[in-house]
Amino acid sequence: MPKKIILDVDPGHDDAIAILLAQGNPDIELAAITSVAGNQILEKTTYNAQRVATLVGATDIPIAAGAKYPLMREQITDGEVVAGSVHGVSGLDGPELPEPAMDLDPRHAAELIVDLVMAGEQDEYTLVPTGPLTNIVLAMRLEPKIVDRVKEVVLMGGAYTQGNATPAAEFNILADPEAAAAVFAAEWQVTMVGLDLTHQAVATPEIKERIRAIGTPISRVVVEWLDFFGANYDSVWKMPYPPIHDACAVARVINPSVVQVKEAFIAVETQGKWTYGETVTDFLGSYGLPFNNLAATTLDFDAFWDLIIDAIKQVS
Ligand code: RIB
Ligand code: CA
Repeated sequence: MPKKIILDVDPGHDDAIAILLAQGNPDIELAAITSVAGNQILEKTTYNAQRVATLVGATDIPIAAGAKYPLMREQITDGEVVAGSVHGVSGLDGPELPEPAMDLDPRHAAELIVDLVMAGEQDEYTLVPTGPLTNIVLAMRLEPKIVDRVKEVVLMGGAYTQGNATPAAEFNILADPEAAAAVFAAEWQVTMVGLDLTHQAVATPEIKERIRAIGTPISRVVVEWLDFFGANYDSVWKMPYPPIHDACAVARVINPSVVQVKEAFIAVETQGKWTYGETVTDFLGSYGLPFNNLAATTLDFDAFWDLIIDAIKQVS
């Protein structure tokens, strides 16, 4: 049986590849897409989610827009992080994309998440957030029962070694630390697919050539995404090859052996001057608190990229 997921995204080039992977993998049923402000403002991330869904053929699922702003802190977008934007003014610069083939679901993202989860069976849905966690906490507050009903939350965000938006904080968490703190502290199991893992998922020249060799219009779009994202990533973070962060969370749901994890106590710092948004990760039990969540540690690079390439072929 395919695993049902709800993707909560802020496209974003790597969010776009996560949507493609979810749509193109036979072990995943992409039940809905919800958008959140993050890499760009909500209007742009929502429009981008619709365009990518159209591109990959996910035109028969509900897509709902969510939170325009974080819960408490002032809004930041990708463009204000570190020295500049890696996703461009549109949030998904690069190749031309189709106009949306679908209208938005009239519900708020939080309502859509609650409606689907509460109408489903126990453990029917896995939530896969790949942007700030504002929609997830709003859904929790709208209907606290979803915490028990959801199978698990597998999110791209955080880091247990070093951040990217600040030395302590990864962007998705820093964009709404109060939301993230509530999501990690809730009773459900959260798998943190953080930078420690996603920085292993780099699109090397060899990988780009494998994608280019597929030879379809969508494979060309993906190569152009990687070119744009990669060039900016190098200029902002001095990494020669772009890490495809968000797709790692989907890969974990598809095949847990592709993304290995370790149990840990994880909490989000919301008071620290220098550590605001840090995902404090205790693998050793230093706090004597229960290991409440999982932290992703090791990627099977070859298996990961095989999943991506197979998905591109599938949706092409
Ligand atoms: O720090 C990486 C995360 O921030 C990814 O989800 C990327 O899309 C941006 O949102
Ligand atoms: Ca993202």
